[in-house]
Amino acid sequence: MYLSNATSRGSTEYGSRLYIYEVVGLRQNGQADRLNYPVRRSGSTFITVPYNRMNEEMRRILRLGGQIVKIEPLNEAARNGTPVSVPGKVEQPEKKSMTQAKEKSKVPVNIYKPKNPFVGKCLENRELVREGGSGTVRHLTFDLSGGDLHYLEGQSIGIIPPGTDERGKPHKLRLYSIASTRHGDHGNDSTVSLCVRKLEYQHPETGETVYGVCSSYLCGLEEGADISITGPVGKEMLLPDDEDATIVMLATGTGIAPFRAFLQRMFDSQEQQLNPDYKFKGLAWLIFGIPYTANILYKDDLEKMAAEYSDHFRLTYAISREQQAADGSKMYVQNRVSEYADELFELMQKPNTHVYMCGLKGMEPPISETFTKEAEERDMDWEEFRKQMKKEDRWHVEVY
Ligand SMILES: Cc1cc2nc3c(=O)[nH]c(=O)nc-3n(C[C@H](O)[C@H](O)[C@H](O)COP(=O)(O)OP(=O)(O)OC[C@H]3O[C@@H](n4cnc5c(N)ncnc54)[C@H](O)[C@@H]3O)c2cc1C
Ligand SMILES: NC(=O)c1ccc[n+]([C@@H]2O[C@H](COP(=O)([O-])OP(=O)(O)OC[C@H]3O[C@@H](n4cnc5c(N)ncnc54)[C@H](OP(=O)(O)O)[C@@H]3O)[C@@H](O)[C@H]2O)c1
Repeated sequence: MYLSNATSRGSTEYGSRLYIYEVVGLRQNGQADRLNYPVRRSGSTFITVPYNRMNEEMRRILRLGGQIVKIEPLNEAARNGTPVSVPGKVEQPEKKSMTQAKEKSKVPVNIYKPKNPFVGKCLENRELVREGGSGTVRHLTFDLSGGDLHYLEGQSIGIIPPGTDERGKPHKLRLYSIASTRHGDHGNDSTVSLCVRKLEYQHPETGETVYGVCSSYLCGLEEGADISITGPVGKEMLLPDDEDATIVMLATGTGIAPFRAFLQRMFDSQEQQLNPDYKFKGLAWLIFGIPYTANILYKDDLEKMAAEYSDHFRLTYAISREQQAADGSKMYVQNRVSEYADELFELMQKPNTHVYMCGLKGMEPPISETFTKEAEERDMDWEEFRKQMKKEDRWHVEVY
């Protein structure tokens, strides 16, 4: 459906400074009726917008429950066959593109299976929590040379701890998000790094301190020791190829792992000229939840990147035991989402904005509630919007 009522003047006057918004999900409501939008529940609506009214129109579409799935300059849109001048014609929204599906089929998975794991060597095992912080989180790097284990940013690997469980069976593998780029921390495509918290808790009945099997094994691993690795696995958290994308990352604790990999690919690997075919020019925004300043994992690296690439990387902390939300409660990632809701909702309207969530399982429900509440205030249905983002491969969650 083509709509030109966003422009008050003829298209020739603005020439190439006219843009076509392809919008889905516009709801029929009082406001839409007043604007005389011929709204449908399905199908795309094409709206012509002059450059100087792009933001204003974007906000109006958002208020009407719509979602912009594509923005094209008018000239380009005409060349691409977007219905810029066919009033009344309804275009169906594009299905997930074949290229995207094909790309996913190229992602390496299960190169090494539990029955035949790759045996690597531990090259590095260093503490990431500084004095005054809580618990133990280690950065580990394993040598992969001599094997065929390769991976992409956002994937995980399995680790099989040695020994047997209480039933005398070999321990099952545990998954860990990869914290390095495909090129590895040494830039030679033959290492993989992890960010592992040592699980430690009080037994609910006996009160004894219990240590997690695999995380304790990893945190205590000596440099030079062998390690059994499986995988890689996972297609949920992959980084899009689009160099102009906006990447919003919501992390708690070790959930930083895939985002360290993303950020290194965007900025460090670029500096080292490791990926000449990917030059990130978009916006990366990390909202990172941790208990204390001393628990900010990879703090120096993150802050260095934020300072050097300030036009492309924004870093926001939610330090739960040091900062307070507006209502005086602990500062969590979801409070930051609320604080920056205007910007986040505007960014999420762009068809190349991706949102990622990684870390504690407990973070998903409150973040979801926050988005729901903020969406309601903007006359939007969050669940519908989130589902649409998911369908477009722009909503990514990995919590554990
Ligand atoms: C996709 C994915 C990615 C992951 N990435 C990472 C990562 O990057 N870094 C990381 O550190 N971990 C990560 N994990 C978690 C990791 O896989 C392990 O679950 C974690 O290290 C604990 O394993 P463990 O062998 O040490 O603990 P286990 O010995 O397996 O003990 C875990 C069990 O202890 C019990 N338990 C745990 N806490 C408590 C408590 N407070 N009270 C009572 N009982 C409790 C539960 O029964 C739980 O199943 C990831 C998990 C997934 C699924
Ligand atoms: N001594 C230890 O062994 C030790 C120390 C620290 C953490 N832990 C436990 O380790 C687990 C996770 O560790 P981690 O390294 O992944 O993370 P982490 O470093 O503990 O950071 C997780 C962050 O997320 C916050 N958080 C907790 N619940 C949340 C929720 N529902 N929504 C949003 N944010 C939430 C935490 O705040 P708050 O924790 O302030 O509520 C903290 O700021 C937790 O179960 C934690 O209790 C153990």
